[in-house]
Amino acid sequence: MGKPIFIRNASQLVTLQGSSQAPLVKEAMSELGVIENGSVWIENGVICAVGKDEVLFEKYETRLDEAEIVDASGKLVTPGLVDPHTHLVFAGSRENEFNMRLQGATYMEIMNSGGGIHATTKRTKSASHEELFEESFERLNQFLRHGVTTVEAKSGYGMEWETELKQLEVAKMLNEKHVIDVVPTFMGAHAVPKEYKENPEQFVEHLINEMIPKVAELGLAEFNDVFCEHGVFTPEQSKRILDAGKTHGLIPKIHADEIEPYEGAELAAEVGAISADHLLKASEKGIKAMAEKGVVGVLLPGTAYFLMAESANGRKMIDLGVPVALSTDCNPGSSPTVSLPFIMNLGCLKMGMTPAEVITAATINAAHAINRGREIGSLEVGKKADITILNVDNFMKLQYSYGVNHTHTVVKNGKVVVR
Ligand code: NIG
Ligand code: FE
Repeated sequence: MGKPIFIRNASQLVTLQGSSQAPLVKEAMSELGVIENGSVWIENGVICAVGKDEVLFEKYETRLDEAEIVDASGKLVTPGLVDPHTHLVFAGSRENEFNMRLQGATYMEIMNSGGGIHATTKRTKSASHEELFEESFERLNQFLRHGVTTVEAKSGYGMEWETELKQLEVAKMLNEKHVIDVVPTFMGAHAVPKEYKENPEQFVEHLINEMIPKVAELGLAEFNDVFCEHGVFTPEQSKRILDAGKTHGLIPKIHADEIEPYEGAELAAEVGAISADHLLKASEKGIKAMAEKGVVGVLLPGTAYFLMAESANGRKMIDLGVPVALSTDCNPGSSPTVSLPFIMNLGCLKMGMTPAEVITAATINAAHAINRGREIGSLEVGKKADITILNVDNFMKLQYSYGVNHTHTVVKNGKVVVR
């Protein structure tokens, strides 16, 4: 399985220890478990020891020769970043719509006139497996260079069987071929296809009776997501779609209260969703219900930034006890970025989160949002050795020195993959 890796003497090593069982809430989101002059010993892709450099040095002194030594002095070491909400697999780009929005058109206007999600659907339909794979593989390379080691990926640029299947097959192939772990979500309920505009109920039935059972049977997704939004899917339809997924073993996720308040947060709590995402317009009642049920709030301040909207109230959600995670929402319409560190910066400046909280939100809480909290997201013995080394000497500087990619070295599955 290759050489052991010994990461040595980090200025600060963020462990987030003790967070594997459940996502962190309230004050616990600030307890990073920092070790100064910290080191990690990795073997067979797994973390074997974490602690002060002098302690690990003593423990492994006789084996130093066989290990690859990574000098992290003067650097910050964190768990590999986790992006729990992306629309990774798509074809083309939509800078024309960006330009239209800068001149006053709204996101929903563009979508309802046949652009937006529909435009990307058209491009994605006509792309081959190979083309989609290549475009998305390059995006994953960029994610990795920004310190991200696990990415959730949604389908939803097909909304008919063949293209949804193609996206999920490409996601599977990406997971196999790229070092980044790609975690698949079915999102057939991303928009109502034009053919069903007059009869959306028929499309909901089609999702429930045909597509969801097939996706589950083929084992192509772990989660089932729906865009619950005025003019897209109603809370009632969303509930039926999510319940159908549950019946077939798909865990519910929901795009909730993004553009208008629509009781999406309440619905997430009611159906026991693992996460509710966006939440710009979530009600206090909904936020409290999420906190009570432990639904992770996946916040996407890059989307708010790019759509020139006010961000979700991350501060309030944390104070009310919601476990908050952060994500890029990487997609060609509302957030064409792979920079999770930039999103973390927006978390601080646009949502009132602290530099400590945004690290928790982009690591262990993000891992819990995709049901991976036991495997990744913290630096603890037995966990997968997914680790990001950053060219700053403390965690506050990561956000203070903004708009810069500080990623220095990335270790994935116990191997150095970026240096
Ligand atoms: O999360 N809101 C719905 N879906 C995506 C945007 C998809 C697109 O515009 O292509 C989102 O923002
Ligand atoms: Fe999204």
